[in-house]
Amino acid sequence: MDMEKFGELMKAKEPGPWPEFEGIRYPPAPPFREKGVEKALQDILHFQSRESDLLICTYPKSGTHWIFEIINMLLRNKTELDTQCKVSTMIEFISDFTVLDKLESPRLLNSHCLFNYLPKKHIENGCKIIHMIRNPKDVCVSLYYQFKKHPFVDFKGSWDDFFEIWMSDKGFYGSWYNYEKEMEKAEKLYPGMILTCYYEKMKKDSTTEIKRLADFLGIQCTESTLKDIAYATSFQNMQQHNMHKLDSSKELDGKGFIYRKGEIGDWKNHFTVAQNERFEEQYTERFKDSTYKLTFE
Ligand code: A3P
Repeated sequence: MDMEKFGELMKAKEPGPWPEFEGIRYPPAPPFREKGVEKALQDILHFQSRESDLLICTYPKSGTHWIFEIINMLLRNKTELDTQCKVSTMIEFISDFTVLDKLESPRLLNSHCLFNYLPKKHIENGCKIIHMIRNPKDVCVSLYYQFKKHPFVDFKGSWDDFFEIWMSDKGFYGSWYNYEKEMEKAEKLYPGMILTCYYEKMKKDSTTEIKRLADFLGIQCTESTLKDIAYATSFQNMQQHNMHKLDSSKELDGKGFIYRKGEIGDWKNHFTVAQNERFEEQYTERFKDSTYKLTFE
């Protein structure tokens, strides 16, 4: 599916209720609506992976579109942005997996599902996973704009309302803490299978991080190609090239939610002092044992 077609599909869908399974809310994407969450997740578990498949795993709003473009460029040895939308290979948004059969190897797939719901065969085959993590305060703000503007999501609340949704783990795909802790556990269980990239490091020193990615994927890349990829996937370039095609929400106010700001620290423009204190308390308590070290500015 190219980006224009995906934009049309988004516009055509009415917002729906938020499907829930085992206490976790999911976005009202077609498979979750059509099959129900339990069946849709079972289908993902039994997805027929190829040994060459690569899987990008992220909690929503952690920079999935960004890393998708970077890896795509590394794999295809090019420095132009793709005409395919990353959602076209997002497993849980695909009702009929046969559309993925037509893709040439290596396929670049992506998902926000918890580690335990990823395709079993991918894990059994020891296939590579690229995990992108971002500081949860900026994820929370970014998700707020997605809730406000996504044509699938029926949310008319304020920032304060959304903050409470986040604090009670009622955003999509469950709590950020749970998602990241499961990923961290998997990283230890399957050494060498998962590469974790930090949004903030990618932002501050893209070329070095892209090189780390290339090494993980076993791709040779010259210094000049690395720089070209960093330039092509910079926020400004991706926003300019992709937003008008992909981000149908921009029609609401001229700005979209997928290429919104692309900055570190936008949380400071949203969190009140009291909200920040509550967030810090929860973060310290729930993430104290984590080896993931996040930066917030
Ligand atoms: P903001 O809402 O903070 O701007 P995802 O792709 O996982 O949905 O994540 C979307 C977030 O990544 C948005 O954050 C978006 O602006 C940011 N993003 C997208 N492309 C980016 C890029 N090239 N560089 C930096 N951030 C990017």
